[in-house]
Amino acid sequence: MKYPEIKRSTTSLRTAIYPGTFDPITNGHLDILIRAKELFDGVTIAIATDSNKVSLFSLEERLELLLEATKDMSKVSVCVFEGLTVEFARQCGAVAILRGLRALSDFEYEFQLALMNKKIAPDIETIFLMTQSQFSFISSSAIKWAASLNGGISDFVPPHVEKALIAKYANRSIVK
Ligand code: COA
Repeated sequence: MKYPEIKRSTTSLRTAIYPGTFDPITNGHLDILIRAKELFDGVTIAIATDSNKVSLFSLEERLELLLEATKDMSKVSVCVFEGLTVEFARQCGAVAILRGLRALSDFEYEFQLALMNKKIAPDIETIFLMTQSQFSFISSSAIKWAASLNGGISDFVPPHVEKALIAKYANRSIVK
């Protein structure tokens, strides 16, 4: 599959990248994105290939789910990247890395990541948006867990992602 081209921002535009594993995209991620695109001239969703996580969905599947979820959003593009997030931000000409914060438990990890990134690339800021309360308890893992046990997930993911999760688990046998 051919990945979308990286859109480089011109110096007059203030853009951000929104990195993550997105396995899969949730309504929580979309909420952050919708709010962030009002703050920046553009936001590039950046699917990390180096995220230390074993994914349920392949890179291509995650990309397709994200492209579908954002197809009607102006100012939003989707990319896949390898290596350091800050290097990718530079490549895109982005001024900021965007992250969502859900609860205190996110803080320590995000703080460490932001400080590491700042040390490597002092010119790139990490911007945190607080997740809205209705999404504060969801994560991609929790949604996958619920879906694997036939739990209702329609409040947490867009319909096409719900469909993809149901299909994924229908093809798997659950080991007890
Ligand atoms: N609403 C709901 N859930 C949210 C959320 C929100 N607003 N924001 C985050 N989450 C959840 C995600 O669903 C995900 O859940 P999971 O752990 O169950 O999968 C979790 O919070 C965090 O995932 P995500 O935002 O996708 O980030 P990540 O931790 O998977 O990815 C990278 C982190 C990609 C930014 C990081 O690994 C990275 O930068 N990698 C590239 C290499 C690099 O530069 N490393 C740093 C060097 S110091």
